[in-house]
Amino acid sequence: MPSNARWPARERRLAVQQELSARLADAIDALQSGPVDPQPDAEALRASLERFDFREPMGLLDASQSVIDLLQHGTVHLMHPAYFGLYNPSVTFPSILADQIAAHFNPCLSVRSHAPAAAEIERHVVGAVGGLAGWRPDETAGHFTTGGAEANNTAALMALTAACPDYAERGARAFAGRPRLYVSAESHHAWFKIAHQTGIGREAVRMAPTDGTGKLDPQVLERIIQADRAEGDVPVFIGATAGTTNAGMIDPLEDCFAISRAHGAWFHVDAAWGGAGLVSPACAESLRGIEKADSITLDAHKWFAVPMGAGMFLCRDNALLGETFRVAANYMPQSTADGVDPYTHSLQWSRRFMGLKLFLSLACMGWPGYREHVEQSLRLAEALKARLAENGWRVVNDSPLAVVCFVDGRGQAEPEKTVDDVVRAGRTWLSAAVFEGRSVLRACPVSHFTGEEHIAVLVDELNRSRSAQRR
Ligand SMILES: Cc1ncc(COP(=O)(O)O)c(C=O)c1O
Repeated sequence: MPSNARWPARERRLAVQQELSARLADAIDALQSGPVDPQPDAEALRASLERFDFREPMGLLDASQSVIDLLQHGTVHLMHPAYFGLYNPSVTFPSILADQIAAHFNPCLSVRSHAPAAAEIERHVVGAVGGLAGWRPDETAGHFTTGGAEANNTAALMALTAACPDYAERGARAFAGRPRLYVSAESHHAWFKIAHQTGIGREAVRMAPTDGTGKLDPQVLERIIQADRAEGDVPVFIGATAGTTNAGMIDPLEDCFAISRAHGAWFHVDAAWGGAGLVSPACAESLRGIEKADSITLDAHKWFAVPMGAGMFLCRDNALLGETFRVAANYMPQSTADGVDPYTHSLQWSRRFMGLKLFLSLACMGWPGYREHVEQSLRLAEALKARLAENGWRVVNDSPLAVVCFVDGRGQAEPEKTVDDVVRAGRTWLSAAVFEGRSVLRACPVSHFTGEEHIAVLVDELNRSRSAQRR
């Protein structure tokens, strides 16, 4: 083999990889004791890129070190133990290696015949996760997606195709009335983008009011659907959220299922981040009813702790999935009899081997390891609630998942101001959210690096900001 910048000789590759592994290990150690959000100056970031004019080649280690430095000083660190952020937790080591393995082989998963081993690995892990949700692994269809938004988009397209056989050819005008999607006011707002992309328009989304605790109110939903039907609208899709983005609340899944069946609509469960709770028996109890779904969204890159992007779309009607994405292209290799071609069953065409991240992590941790991971987060959430209460903060959500929404019980600390203060100080990171129409602080202890000492740092920082605001 030639040895050049494109593909250095074996000895050189091994040496570079070894050195890079050591530098990455140092960087991860260093970032864990540094600021969670280094808050870089955009000008400085751009200036440090000026040396990359690409006129002359540079050394691989030199270039890689520059990227490591940029990321270290220009990232909100999800790998930091005091990051209480947006459900994208610190990732597992096996899942990092999985990304490396996938890149080495770069299997093209658009057609099964090009990547039979990768396709079988993904099928196997999709089946295993279907089993977790209460389905038989061999009846579970679906695939990995770039994330929860793509998985939800897939669900909406499938529901529209199921509701009206002509939709696939003629679009929204094939419906006798206006097609409607029903979700709660606390659901993820990608539903608006999805409605736009599916051709039914943003106005087709009905966000039903919640019950005051962040959950969809089934009686209100029923009334809205009846009123819409009286106007000639067609209820196509009921999307229950199992783990709302703001507050980790779980919609009443059984009730939503019953309403969907009463109106001939699709029943989807968006368990993008809450679905990982299925690995813990206590948490799984609160997700009961998910097994009745026609389709499920479940992100591996959230509580399953693998690098982005790795979402999952699960369903049981593989034939309908194929009808939804039916396409023929004579430049693609012919289908084989022993499995489906992902490009004819999903939104993507060329696709990366995303599922390996979850497969390798599951292989190395097993379900018991994931149960421990989820239960560690749940214990930390309880510890956080207790410490907040001792310090005069009031928890406002009652989620069975690891997310705590709270306000200052003394009314002295304003949520957005507090988040700004705390994040600027750099010792920890949390976010502001709006829960049931009210501004709140939100902390999600989902990193496997987090311990009680980091909970203490978070509450100290909150108290410090409150004292400063009181002055
Ligand atoms: C409930 C829910 N659904 C969907 C999404 C979108 O997922 P992604 O960002 O992976 O596309 C999120 C993201 O936070 C979410 O919380």
